[in-house]
Amino acid sequence: MLDTSRIAFIGGGVMCEAILSRLLKGSSLSADAISVAEPIAARREQLAGKYAVHVTSDNAAAAEQATIVVLSVKPQIMSLAMESIKAGLAQTALVISIAAGVAIRSIQNVLGSQQPVVRVMPNTPAQIGEGLSVWTTTAQVSVAQKEQARSILQAMGREVYVENEHYLDMATALSGSGPAYVFLFMEALIDAGVQLGFSRPVAQQLVEQTLKGSVDFAIASGRHVAELRNQVTSPGGTTAAGLYELESGRLRTTIADAVRAAYRRSIELGKSE
Ligand SMILES: NC(=O)c1ccc[n+]([C@@H]2O[C@H](COP(=O)([O-])OP(=O)(O)OC[C@H]3O[C@@H](n4cnc5c(N)ncnc54)[C@H](OP(=O)(O)O)[C@@H]3O)[C@@H](O)[C@H]2O)c1
Repeated sequence: MLDTSRIAFIGGGVMCEAILSRLLKGSSLSADAISVAEPIAARREQLAGKYAVHVTSDNAAAAEQATIVVLSVKPQIMSLAMESIKAGLAQTALVISIAAGVAIRSIQNVLGSQQPVVRVMPNTPAQIGEGLSVWTTTAQVSVAQKEQARSILQAMGREVYVENEHYLDMATALSGSGPAYVFLFMEALIDAGVQLGFSRPVAQQLVEQTLKGSVDFAIASGRHVAELRNQVTSPGGTTAAGLYELESGRLRTTIADAVRAAYRRSIELGKSE
């Protein structure tokens, strides 16, 4: 699928490395077909040394040769990065943006409305290949390009294609910001364990494995999570006492409000570009 592709990454940071390292391991793509444009010389040397990919400080030169361009710079740098590749970019080259909150409209404002564009909302576990990417395409993206995009995203973990960019704002609030909600919940549980008298490393170990085990169990069992919760809630028992406090603290509605606030903010930020 990616056999004849030439991929250029604009920005050689964390996400670029996460994607390219897995692409080289898991696909038939050779290092020779990958270029990375990165301003810092030490970082270029590091990527070239570790993966034998082509490196350059010249964004335009990397993009000119590419059939697929991955924009892997911070959202604030996106306009600058797009301007720098615009002149030499092939009109049929697939542009994949993983920048959080940058709308397709803003990408096409710079690169032109005919450029095939994939917009992705990844999340941070992508760094270990356990991410979730929600993505959409413009009408100019061919069936073959869509499959190429899918195989690149699979290097970061799982992917969910959506028809409408609108769902990316929802995904930003749920799966994009989601890891932060989970980390906050973990932090609160660990602190509670420390308050009870566990040492911090032990409390952390208990919480980490409880979360990991519960998620794996929920997925493996395929049962409704409310059913799994009932299983651990014996009448008049310890879990029931704990759950009562969580419910009286409005945990569910607070979470719903939090996701809705993130969604509203995502729409606001998209409009202000
Ligand atoms: N990290 C994640 O798990 C995650 C999750 C969701 C979405 N994302 C999105 O992924 C994108 C990349 O994130 P990241 O974590 O990989 O960021 P990062 O590690 O900071 O990587 C960005 C890279 O681009 C380079 N760069 C800066 N200006 C440039 C320019 N003008 N031309 C070319 N390269 C330039 C940076 O170099 P300098 O060091 O010199 O600035 C850096 O190496 C972001 O848009 C972010 O929203 C990341």
